Amino acid sequence: MSSDIAIGIHDLSFATTEYVLPHTALAAHNGTEIGKYHIGIGQHSMSVPAADEDIVTLGAAAAAPLIAAHGSDRIRTVVFATESSIDQAKAAGVYVHSLLQLPSACRVVELKQACYGATAALQFALGLVRRDPAQQVLVIASDVSKYELDSPGEATQGAAAVAMLVGLDPHLLRIEEPSGLFTADVMDFWRPNYRDAALVDGQESISAYLQAVEGSFKDYTEQGGRPLEEFAAFCYHQPFTKMAYKAHRHLLNYCGADTDTDTIERAIGLTTAYNTTIGNSYTASVYLGLAALLDQADDLSGQPLAFLSYGSGSVAEFFAATVVPGYREHLRTAQHRDAIDRRTPVDYAAYRTLHQRAFPTDGGHYPTPEQTSGPFRLAALNGHKRIYEAR
Ligand code: COA
Repeated sequence: MSSDIAIGIHDLSFATTEYVLPHTALAAHNGTEIGKYHIGIGQHSMSVPAADEDIVTLGAAAAAPLIAAHGSDRIRTVVFATESSIDQAKAAGVYVHSLLQLPSACRVVELKQACYGATAALQFALGLVRRDPAQQVLVIASDVSKYELDSPGEATQGAAAVAMLVGLDPHLLRIEEPSGLFTADVMDFWRPNYRDAALVDGQESISAYLQAVEGSFKDYTEQGGRPLEEFAAFCYHQPFTKMAYKAHRHLLNYCGADTDTDTIERAIGLTTAYNTTIGNSYTASVYLGLAALLDQADDLSGQPLAFLSYGSGSVAEFFAATVVPGYREHLRTAQHRDAIDRRTPVDYAAYRTLHQRAFPTDGGHYPTPEQTSGPFRLAALNGHKRIYEAR
């Protein structure tokens, strides 16, 4: 469990969109009883990207404060995890690298495996830092979750990016070995290259997720991981926040532990605060859960936290991290709350227009309306090229 050198998350920052749609507006449109959204799936609102926001602008906005605080001299790798990629060839991280003026002596790559990708990125970062502890790795998880209008998945949409600086002697979390791993070939959620919105078999995705919880924890135990009762809290991937409750109950049952409501609430309650108002941010979701926990909990110094990262299709990883004493001085709680509070509410009609927006595919020059008040914007599509600018 312990390793000779401490490597982990040195700093963490997130960004979300310009707009927000409350679930009351969606419920009023489709006639759903609001309790289904607020209690049944545990969602209150969803972040909605402006016309000039995408995974690049969100990712750059999340990472900019880390570069401002720590500089970029030690960053030799940027790993950008997403499942809502904007290009089949070029890594979105290359645009972020340019917007943030990172050094040219840097490798940049994009990773994909549904919502799991950022955890793969984090693990790869740990390996790179172990090989050369002088280096830091910038991990960015950025996604816009988009389902068909009027489909069951619509209520679970959202968008956000989390940026994490991974390095030696981290300020926030020391990531532990071992990891518990699980892969199974299932078609619970996927997005063929010709589609903008994901396809999902909702009930299948819930049971595939629960199977992956069990499978990855079983492997974690077999690899010599901590017993369940040692963990102070559990950060789950949250496609909708109720899923974390389902997952934790399932894990407790699997381990033959008590499943009373208070125990479950203590273990995961604080991790849902950001996801319930942002919605599903795919790769970023589990790390938004971590941010919400660290920003709200009483001092967790020295305590082990559990992580369950799930990506449909499916791959899951169960791993642990220890909270570094003194971490509270390095949190970005005010910035995070502001990212949520500064969003402008949109009505259903405005949301629907944004949802249906798509660039023509003829290679012409298409400027985007200036909507975002964030630090970066997608200014145009011109000759099939996305043009970004700092504001
Ligand atoms: N008050 C309180 N709860 C209510 C309610 C009401 N008025 N009406 C319904 N509910 C509850 C249901 O009992 C159910 O709870 P349960 O799952 O604990 O039994 C929950 O709300 C959802 O209802 P359901 O009928 O299953 O909703 P749905 O058919 O719209 O599907 C999802 C829900 C999550 C499957 C759907 O939103 C989806 O496909 N999401 C995208 C995929 C996804 O997020 N997968 C997760 C794994 S990655």
